[in-house]
Amino acid sequence: MDLKNDLILRAAKGETTERTPVWLMRQAGRILPEYRAVRAKTKNFIEFVKNPELAAEVTIQPVDILGVDAAIIFSDILVIPEAMGLPYQMIEAKGPWFEKTIQTKADIEQLLVAQSGDLQYVMDALRLAKQGLHNRVPLIGFCGAPWTIFAYMIEGSGSKTFSKAKKFLYTHPELSHLLLEKITQSSINYLKGQIEAGADMLQIFDSWAGVLSPQQYSEFALKYISKICDAIDFRVPVTVFAKDAFFARKEMSTLKCNTIGLDWTMNIEESRALCSNKTLQGNADPCLLYADAATIKTETHKMLKAFGPSKYIANLGHGLYPDTEKDKVKLFVDIIKEYQHAGATKILT
Ligand code: CP3
Repeated sequence: MDLKNDLILRAAKGETTERTPVWLMRQAGRILPEYRAVRAKTKNFIEFVKNPELAAEVTIQPVDILGVDAAIIFSDILVIPEAMGLPYQMIEAKGPWFEKTIQTKADIEQLLVAQSGDLQYVMDALRLAKQGLHNRVPLIGFCGAPWTIFAYMIEGSGSKTFSKAKKFLYTHPELSHLLLEKITQSSINYLKGQIEAGADMLQIFDSWAGVLSPQQYSEFALKYISKICDAIDFRVPVTVFAKDAFFARKEMSTLKCNTIGLDWTMNIEESRALCSNKTLQGNADPCLLYADAATIKTETHKMLKAFGPSKYIANLGHGLYPDTEKDKVKLFVDIIKEYQHAGATKILT
């Protein structure tokens, strides 16, 4: 059962690898015409996510088409609110929408703690993807961080400010903790199930970290991410990606995780100093891929040089934008795979 390419796992564990491994957030998605063809077979996004055969198929596509060093299971972070009792819709060109939101103590009490069996379709998709990958590259499982899931549950949709969710933190701190605890327990069950179903590595996405103050982030977000990391207890490598939470990097270095994901606003040298015990992942601006080939190459080389040859997984600083050209994405991946650090001896892989 040995993986043929385990560069990402070794980099996550802090080892120096022959070359820099790379994968891309949102690689299983709309930038690929092959994805859109499979997507067209289903009525809507949720039906697609709940179809393990199709989900496994688009999970593997970027490995074949882009040559990335890992697959990420095709799903969404919002499967957790649904499993807890809050169904969502994905509205075309708009984003997620929840008919029912959380407003009161009774609403929170009515929510279920999700068990991995409640998300059987994700477990089935993981098993099928794992089979289909034939151990070529690791398979990444994921969940949303409790704060980000909380934000969608209260707000009921995306938002620029998440002011309803933040209002809830200020006006109902105890209820906030009750809800965050329930989301955390659900996420732990879910991630443990993903490991059993074949996930080789996990990522926790805290997409809305940046709307909180450092103090709130510590109290309402990191506390719960920390509980998840403790429960996983290094059974597989864990990456924590907290978008825009530059202020939290030092505290994040104390988490029981292997890798910290950086967005493009975070200075690389400063992040190395703050998280010297961790592998770092990131952090190219997804908009770099709109530039010409020469600019992509120059900027990617700068990034690779700044991160250095070890404890590093190349990625973007957030997910790929849907209108990115596939060829530019492939170019970015190839530049990373071909890069040789000055003074390093070339080892063919
Ligand atoms: O990374 C991957 O390729 C794996 C699949 C994946 C999806 N969503 C598929 C998806 C992952 C890891 C996610 C995570 C996710 N989902 C996050 C965290 C990461 C981030 O981007 O900050 C968040 C906040 C969501 C919630 C979500 N899902 C939103 C806000 C939207 C609508 C906006 C958008 O980006 O399209 C989605 C829809 C979604 N999730 C799509 C895909 C491929 C597009 C649906 C389609 O096919 O039309």
